[in-house]
Amino acid sequence: MKNDLFLRALKGEKVDRPPVWMMRQAGRYLPDFMKIKRKYDFFTRCQTPELATEITLMPINQVGPDAAIIFSDILVVLQAMGIKVEMKDNIGPWINSPIRKNDDIKKVRVPEVKAELDYVFKAIKMSKKELNENVPLIGFAGSPWTLLCYAVQGSGSKDFNLAKEFCFSQSEYSKILLQKITETTISYLKEQVNSGVNAIQIFDSWGGLLSPIDYEVFSWKYIDQIIKELSPLIPVIVFGKGCWFHLNEMSKSKVSAIGIDWTCSARNARYLTGGKITLQGNLDPSKLLSPIYEIKKSVKNMIDEFGKDNYIVNLGHGILPNTPVDNAKAFIDSVKEYNS
Ligand code: CP3
Repeated sequence: MKNDLFLRALKGEKVDRPPVWMMRQAGRYLPDFMKIKRKYDFFTRCQTPELATEITLMPINQVGPDAAIIFSDILVVLQAMGIKVEMKDNIGPWINSPIRKNDDIKKVRVPEVKAELDYVFKAIKMSKKELNENVPLIGFAGSPWTLLCYAVQGSGSKDFNLAKEFCFSQSEYSKILLQKITETTISYLKEQVNSGVNAIQIFDSWGGLLSPIDYEVFSWKYIDQIIKELSPLIPVIVFGKGCWFHLNEMSKSKVSAIGIDWTCSARNARYLTGGKITLQGNLDPSKLLSPIYEIKKSVKNMIDEFGKDNYIVNLGHGILPNTPVDNAKAFIDSVKEYNS
């Protein structure tokens, strides 16, 4: 690997400067992405390895992060399990027949991922080839809880009230669904590893909607199974949005790094995780809308606070579609210019 900064940070090795990448870096802030988006609908882009590869490489060539993330979506796992998911313009994910009762769960299958998600594995192999060992490739999956949120709610939501109602009123059934998603996700991620990804990230985007006690029961219990199966094979990063309350527990698992959102200070994150484990984050994505000199100042401060070692620079959540490309590039460049 020509640029192995990201992999070295995951191992906890000393580096001259921390590596940097951005969650959702292959997305709508890139004009070339928007050109492809006008021609092909969302899941066609995910299902066509040539398109997925082109999009995966786009941020690497245009803004220069130290790692690529495969272009796909967390929701492809639900599709593979037999749940019909659409991506509607201006609405986002949409499921016509959401999962609301035991009969629905019975119909959800644990699929043969090799067949159902072959297009992802092809896209990974093709992207690896195109990346030509310049930077590592990150694979990913949503956490079982976050996928349940969409499967039950049927769309995006501020509070996923129907998903929570389902878990609290039909707790035994919700656990059957969570376990099916967990099993599918484990074989899906193992196959991503076989296809060549260099690290994986688990996105628990909606973990912060749960109380600390419910987080353990409905989210962490399943993420932990995934970590136990995958960490012997590959570095695992876990990102729980709004889950600062679980950082201590997370740091006791076998993960290589933990993602932090912008509501938790570097100091608090280091304190809660015991000071040694690699942390990733945590600039508020909205800060990329500041003038470039402010972005540079924020990045320098952030690295000073987290420390250059055991650290991966990132945003605290996905990059916003209205981010100017120059600002995204300034974010990446200021990390490359860092010297303590
Ligand atoms: O660059 C990358 O990070 C790789 C690609 C990627 C996408 N989705 C592409 C995408 C990744 C890693 C995801 C993860 C994802 N998808 C998450 C977890 C991360 C997070 O943001 O919390 C979640 C919750 C989803 C579900 C999802 N997919 C939503 C809610 C939406 C619509 C709203 C939105 O943020 O755009 C999507 C659509 C989606 N996934 C787009 C992209 C580039 C935009 C739609 C389009 O291009 O047509």
